Amino acid sequence: MKANDGAEAAKRRAGESAADRVEGGEVVGLGTGSTAAHAIRALGRAVDAGLDVRGIPTSHQSRALAREVGIPLTTLAEATPDVAIDGADQAAPLGPQPDSGSTAPEAGAPAVSAFGAAGGTALVKGGGAAHAREKVVDTAADRLLVVVDRSKLAATLDHPVPVEVLPEAAPTVRDRLGGLGGEPTLRAAERKDGPVVTDNGNLVLDCAFGDVTAPDRLARDLEGVPGAVAHGLFVDLVDELHVGTADGVAVHD
Ligand code: 5RP
Repeated sequence: MKANDGAEAAKRRAGESAADRVEGGEVVGLGTGSTAAHAIRALGRAVDAGLDVRGIPTSHQSRALAREVGIPLTTLAEATPDVAIDGADQAAPLGPQPDSGSTAPEAGAPAVSAFGAAGGTALVKGGGAAHAREKVVDTAADRLLVVVDRSKLAATLDHPVPVEVLPEAAPTVRDRLGGLGGEPTLRAAERKDGPVVTDNGNLVLDCAFGDVTAPDRLARDLEGVPGAVAHGLFVDLVDELHVGTADGVAVHD
C-alpha cells in the first residue's frame, strides 16, 4: 500500500461518516475538495439506494460531481440547507485545551480528543478557492459537518489564510493585509500561466500570519478590508468534526 492510499482512505472514512448523518428529505450543502468529494460520492450511492435528498453545491467542481453521481440539485433561492458537509485545510480547537500531546501522531498536533472538549473549532478553508460560496452555504445550514483526516489537525492555526479579492482591489488589499501583519502571495494557477481565478471571477491572496492565536479577531479585521470578498477563517461554525484516522473515524461535536 502506498502512503498516499492511507491518507485517501482516512479522507474517505471521514466523508462517508458525515454522509451517513444525512436523513431523508434533507437539503445538503455540498462542500468542495477531495474529502468533501468522498461525502458527495457516498450521498450519490445513498440516492441510488432510495434516499431522498437535494444538494446545494459550493463550486463548479462539487456541482459537476453531484450531477455525475446523481444527486438532485437545488439552490439557496429555493431551499435552506438542513446540513452542510465540507472539508478544511486546517482545524484547531478554540479555547483552553486539555493536555493532549501524548497521543498526537504529528508533532504539534493535538489529539483528536482536544476537539469539542473545551470550546468550538476554528478552520482555515479555501485551498480549492471555493471558500466564499462555502461560507455562504455552510453558515446557511442548520448543521455543519466538517470532514478531515488527522493531518489537518493543529493546536493553533498557522496555515496561510486564503483571501478572495476583487481583481481591481488586489494591490490595495495586499497592502492592507500587510498592515494586519500578514504576508500575502497571489495564488498562481497550477496548470497554466497566470493567477487562479475563482468561480466568482476573483483572485486569491494566500496570506501567512504565523500562529493565529485569536482567529475571531483576525476574522473581524479581514472582514473590514475593502475589496476582500471573503476570507478562509471559519470560526466556531462547526457542529461536528469527522476525523478520518488509520482505522476508523472520530466524531466530535
Ligand atoms: C475548498 C476547501 C476544501 O474543503 C479544503 O481545501 C480541503 O480540501 P481537501 O479535502 O482536498 O484537502 O476549503 O475551498
